[in-house]
Amino acid sequence: MMETKIYTKQDIPEAAAELRAGHLVSFPTETVYGLGAIVDNEAAVRQVYVAKGRPSDNPLIVTVCSPEMVWKYAVKSELAEKLMATFWPGPLTIILPLQPNTLSSVVTGGLSTAAFRMPKNDATLELIKETGTPIVGPSANTSGKPSPTKAQHVYHDLRGKIAGILDDGQTQVGLESTIIDLSVAPAAILRPGYYDADDLAPLLGTVDTAQHHVGAKETPKAPGMKYKHYAPAAQVLIVEPTKNFAEAVAKTRQHYRKPFGVLAFDEQLQMLVTSDLVTTYSLGADIQSASHQLFAGLRWFDDQPGIDLILAAGVPEKGLGIAYMNRLKKSAGGQFYEATVF
Ligand code: TXA
Ligand code: MG
Repeated sequence: MMETKIYTKQDIPEAAAELRAGHLVSFPTETVYGLGAIVDNEAAVRQVYVAKGRPSDNPLIVTVCSPEMVWKYAVKSELAEKLMATFWPGPLTIILPLQPNTLSSVVTGGLSTAAFRMPKNDATLELIKETGTPIVGPSANTSGKPSPTKAQHVYHDLRGKIAGILDDGQTQVGLESTIIDLSVAPAAILRPGYYDADDLAPLLGTVDTAQHHVGAKETPKAPGMKYKHYAPAAQVLIVEPTKNFAEAVAKTRQHYRKPFGVLAFDEQLQMLVTSDLVTTYSLGADIQSASHQLFAGLRWFDDQPGIDLILAAGVPEKGLGIAYMNRLKKSAGGQFYEATVF
């Protein structure tokens, strides 16, 4: 096993040297931590799949530190330039058609398009600049687990498998970037995130949002969306926002009779009767903080012995609530709390 170093901002030159040497370094972004390898080192990119246990047909995001870096690979378009000028650096990943023979199929999964992203994190932008080439950037978790929002999450999953982690504290947004596909007309959101269709519509006009609905039976356009995702060890049950949360917890306590977890908003937690059976984790006061805390909360329950069930607060599916519910439904395997189950 190799030693996995924890880097701070002063160590960026060392982290860049590791990347250039063909090693893997995890980097912070505003959404979740990514797993970097230089994009044109095939052997290094293969190691990314191995370290994550990721199926090799699931293509990787190309992470850049400027829009200019993209045009070495992708076909230039005015629309893409406008999106980049408006939303970059920021939590928007843009799928673009590639110029032929510019990116290895190990990165693209053999597609004629690729996903490009310029994250809003100064340390990572400096790391890429110092490295001198784009780096691939899937989330730095073991495939299937919740994405990492803290360096310690990355360390937990990938220790001994990667050269280092550039630690910049907990990420702000907490859910992965919105993916917009510009290689199709109309442009399609393949994965909901911080930006929703309303944010993109002023530049794009009609935006197709049909692709990202959980449970859509056809093969998802973003290959990664078909796999089991974000799942903690315990079964998650979503409590719909229209249901009385305290009542759902009380009923579960009465009938389930084993310890269980509750992942909910402060307001909901204040309404609960304390009980030895119930372990709580707060999502805070609003949807921003809930998105920020969701993955950290799911991972925290993995460390609580004896908890096989988590009741998690659902939210209305609008704005950031669309992305939050998309991830929560995947972590729950689509299961909702029903009073009749108990
Ligand atoms: O916020 C994020 O986007 C984070 C941070 C680290 O940047 N990265 C991330 O990467 O979430 P990953 O690999 O976990 O998710 C990228 C998704 C996958 O579902 C993949 O299938 C999809 O993007 N994807 C990549 N290239 C694509 C392409 N050419 N066409 C369609 N989907 C693509
Ligand atoms: Mg991922």
